[in-house]
Amino acid sequence: MAKNIIVDATASKSEKYKELFPQIKALISHEDDLTANLANICAALKYGMDFFWVGFYLVKDEMLVLAPFQGTVACTRIPFGKGVCGTAYEEQKTIIVSDVNLFTGHIACSSDSQSEIVIPVLKDGKVLMVLDVDSDQLADFDEVDKIYLEQLAEWIADIYPKNLH
Ligand code: SME
Repeated sequence: MAKNIIVDATASKSEKYKELFPQIKALISHEDDLTANLANICAALKYGMDFFWVGFYLVKDEMLVLAPFQGTVACTRIPFGKGVCGTAYEEQKTIIVSDVNLFTGHIACSSDSQSEIVIPVLKDGKVLMVLDVDSDQLADFDEVDKIYLEQLAEWIADIYPKNLH
């Protein structure tokens, strides 16, 4: 199976998500391996949306542990309540940070990262993982990203294998 992700680079952000999401759905709908699907979602988001860093942190060992990602080397373990990821975990809600330098406790994996959005993936009231997207531009994320990435998080919760719950 060879698949190219095709997104019009000149389109608006919401148009890009609209073009990209059916392609992501097609990618993950015929595969039930979680790691394979998360890896392809990262690649599709990174190259489809031209994000600086995209990755998942899974809830494991009572903390968030680095899972499939695309981008520069990242910190591997984040305690609950720490950084943007640990805060999104604890509050069970999406957090948009326009300037990471102004977020108390932000964990800097790359000094190039300037803004960030973290979306928790929830199932039955529990956070399974968080999706972290970083930009090398200030204030790069807004309600449009939140709407689409939360939709993606719902699909991921749906395909999450029951035996890992
Ligand atoms: N900045 C995140 C840590 C993960 S890296 O950005 C990949 C945080 O503060 O939780």
